[in-house]
Amino acid sequence: MPDPSPRGATPPRPPRASLRTSVVWEVLRDALDRRAEATGGETLDILDTGGGSGSFAVPVAQLGHRVTVVDPSPNALFALERRAAEASVADRVRGVQGDVHGLFDVVERDGFDAVLCHGVLEYVDDPAEGLRNVVAALRPTGVLSLLAAGLGGAVLARALAGHFTEARQALADPAGRWGDADPVPRRFTAEQLTGLASDAGVDVGAVHGVRVFADLVPGALVDTEPGALDALLRLEAAVAELPAFHSVATQLHVLGVKHR
Ligand SMILES: C[S@@+](CC[C@H](N)C(=O)[O-])C[C@H]1O[C@@H](n2cnc3c(N)ncnc32)[C@H](O)[C@@H]1O
Repeated sequence: MPDPSPRGATPPRPPRASLRTSVVWEVLRDALDRRAEATGGETLDILDTGGGSGSFAVPVAQLGHRVTVVDPSPNALFALERRAAEASVADRVRGVQGDVHGLFDVVERDGFDAVLCHGVLEYVDDPAEGLRNVVAALRPTGVLSLLAAGLGGAVLARALAGHFTEARQALADPAGRWGDADPVPRRFTAEQLTGLASDAGVDVGAVHGVRVFADLVPGALVDTEPGALDALLRLEAAVAELPAFHSVATQLHVLGVKHR
């Protein structure tokens, strides 16, 4: 994870966690830096919808920005409060209980420079409506960071684990689920995610494949082979933007900007 930023330093994460977050973090941090430059302000107002315990909200606050986290889970908000306090950014992180469908019961429309929606569309009742609300919380030209489970990554993972029928089931299922025991309620293709973002009023700027290889390689190799984690992180960064790999990524990240 995160290198120190010009606006504030962020602490190193456990090495394995960086495999889950590094591609998204790099893309997001660049986008926030550009937004801060464009608005002529050091401090941005950021909304993290379904931000959970703050795995992104807290590092974003450590960059010097003000972050509001909206999440339905009281436990997650409690963990967020603790994490923000431990990172000495409690004054810049606000947790609010709420959900994307009733977003404007708890935050204002057109009020944020950037909105994160990471790992949430999989769980909401109506992803199109949820994302329209997320985008409506942005100021014109504000930044959308959207991360969701990719269909192809799940198909590949089930097949490589020898669960061929489940892999085929995920392909055939409209929600991309491999069976009743699948813990993820919905997955997306890159086309579906960019379509949802465009329909919500966002100009899509970039799509990245996240965790293309990370979930497929043996953990012991990454943990014990000298230099393997760094090499894998560099490989993930190299393939993230290549469209050919989007169709097999565990997650897909869409970065865009709200229409004026
Ligand atoms: C997989 S976690 C992702 C947490 C965080 N965004 C991250 O990337 O680490 C999904 C989060 O979405 C929240 N969530 C579930 N349904 C939601 C809804 N309708 N609106 C907003 N958040 C929701 C959950 O409480 C949980 O914190």
